Amino acid sequence: MKIIMLGAPGAGKGTQAKQIAEKYHIPHISTGDIFRANIKNGTQLGKEAKKYMDQGMLVPDELTTNLLVDRIKNADCENGYVLDGFPRTIPQAECLDQALAKMDDAVDYAINVDVPDENIIRRMSGRRACLSCGATYHIQYHPPKADNTCDVCGSQLVLRDDDKPETVKKRLEVYHGQTQPLMDYYAAKNILIQVDGTQDIEKVFADIVQVLGE
Ligand code: AP5
Repeated sequence: MKIIMLGAPGAGKGTQAKQIAEKYHIPHISTGDIFRANIKNGTQLGKEAKKYMDQGMLVPDELTTNLLVDRIKNADCENGYVLDGFPRTIPQAECLDQALAKMDDAVDYAINVDVPDENIIRRMSGRRACLSCGATYHIQYHPPKADNTCDVCGSQLVLRDDDKPETVKKRLEVYHGQTQPLMDYYAAKNILIQVDGTQDIEKVFADIVQVLGE
């Protein structure tokens, strides 16, 4: 099963992608997490990506696409994967389709987690992220068991640099301009699934499972 998660920044793509990965035993591949790991490790890719991420801009397609296309050729992707944060532009979607076509393959579902902009800024200011293992929490809707500490690996949780309200506004602008057109792209292929992302996390997941099957 090859799944793409679509939705505005903070819509809950990562939250749902992690649960899909666990239930269907496929890897969760987040380009945002890959970039953040590179920033943390001080790699050249991380330094380059940070320049864009801190401003709420997209990392250029050529850096992102090669990285993703290489990743999905790994052995753990044989039975599928859930892509979170990729593609984000029409050229990225076309590159992915071309790479898959060479393997005689195609995306099965593009799931759009729909949340209006008004809800997004509130959500982002409450998000806390673990930069060590990629786990995500919310101080109100999905708190960690111990204050500011990751349940999974025990690292300290942080407010991401790009979750400050000014940067979130820029990310939303970029989303509407460059990423939202992907909805028409996947609707035209008849693989777009819409879910209401304003519901509780469990209810959003139940709606997704209803489409993907038990
Ligand atoms: P990325 O990490 O992909 O950020 P994003 O798309 O902006 O998405 P987020 O991770 O911010 O949010 P999410 O939708 O996963 O929400 P979450 O589940 O955490 O990318 C960051 C940057 O990297 C980009 O801006 C760009 O610069 C660069 N980049 C990455 N990929 C790229 C690409 N392909 N091309 C170019 N550049 C790229 O949930 C948010 C919060 O809400 C959490 O606190 C969560 O607990 C809470 N929550 C979730 N669901 C619910 C719910 N139903 N009810 C209440 N609270 C909820």
